[in-house]
Amino acid sequence: MNWDETGPDTGELTDERFHDRLVDGGADGEDTAVEAALRPKDLGEFIGQEKVREQLDLVLKAALARGATADHVLLSGAPGLGKTTLSMIIAAEMNAPIRITSGPAIQHAGDLAAILSSLQEGEVLFLDEIHRMSRPAEEMLYMAMEDFRVDVIVGKGPGATAIPLELPPFTLVGATTRAGLLPPPLRDRFGFTAHMEFYAPTELERVVHRSAGLLDVAIDTDGAAEIAGRSRGTPRIANRLLRRVRDYAQVKAEGRIDREIAAAALRVYEVDERGLDRLDRGVLEALLKLFGGGPVGLSTLAVAVGEERETVEEVAEPFLVREGLLARTPRGRVATPAAWAHLGLVPPQHTAKGQQGLFGA
Ligand SMILES: Nc1ncnc2c1ncn2[C@@H]1O[C@H](COP(=O)(O)OP(=O)(O)OP(=O)(O)O)[C@@H](O)[C@H]1O
Ligand SMILES: [Mg+2]
Repeated sequence: MNWDETGPDTGELTDERFHDRLVDGGADGEDTAVEAALRPKDLGEFIGQEKVREQLDLVLKAALARGATADHVLLSGAPGLGKTTLSMIIAAEMNAPIRITSGPAIQHAGDLAAILSSLQEGEVLFLDEIHRMSRPAEEMLYMAMEDFRVDVIVGKGPGATAIPLELPPFTLVGATTRAGLLPPPLRDRFGFTAHMEFYAPTELERVVHRSAGLLDVAIDTDGAAEIAGRSRGTPRIANRLLRRVRDYAQVKAEGRIDREIAAAALRVYEVDERGLDRLDRGVLEALLKLFGGGPVGLSTLAVAVGEERETVEEVAEPFLVREGLLARTPRGRVATPAAWAHLGLVPPQHTAKGQQGLFGA
């Protein structure tokens, strides 16, 4: 977890800068290496997301019964919630091959035309990060999704001609962490949209048990619950914490994980009971101890924790807000009563009064 050793800011704040964080939902190198082994292979094995699973099950079964290709599916949700996993499950359930590509890999319409024209009938085309596709490719995709046809442009300028190309029916599975960035014409062309929610602790407990089984790790119910509670509602984080706890248990406890071992291990890795790491706690502590719980401006808060504004705003705050520990108000950042409780601190009298209006206390 060396988020403070990631070197100079390279401009755009990419997720990658913080993928070393144990509690980041995005995939790091190690995740990618082990995830293939941990991915559920069919809908029955896929834990949680009851609604999505039920609806998808109907969509796929109906298509199978009709002997047709399934409708296009859009999967939206935060990193690590199972979008890639679900796309592979869709192909498996349809007994169809799957082709995997991503928005950033398709820079020209020609790139997309090449992929589309080589699809087999019924194939699943998984387009990850679909919101990052180029505009011309996007427009080609509209027609391909609707009419299973693309116009390949040959030549340039006034002499250019469009040669129509028929495509075999296929199922597009698009994935995005930013559904709001998709242009409506694209969103509307999906027959089924699945919004993936964060997982409940009991669901993550099942994820941890399942992964422990596959990794041949001995863990009891309390140990799994301890890891699940610190995983920020995200299966990828649960799997990652499980691997770190396993390391600790191997060295200190002959490989057996119970609540105490899990808690001790995650203390070493600085992931607290609610899944906050050093950065998150640093922000909260500054807000509470230096600014009496706020309101304080983002820039001031960032200087106090020795981080860039963007880091505080885009890396730490979203989870703190989601957890109801911090509020963004027009007057600045404000700690909620839950934040004081979480850090075991007592709010000073005057602040409690000053915040009455904000929290209706
Ligand atoms: N419902 C689930 N049940 C069990 N394991 C899951 C589930 N969802 C995800 N996982 C596990 O979490 C890991 C991450 O899932 P996946 O790669 O599908 O996430 P993603 O949504 O595609 O993330 P990203 O946005 O980074 O691409 C997988 O290795 C898988 O083992
Ligand atoms: Mg993915």
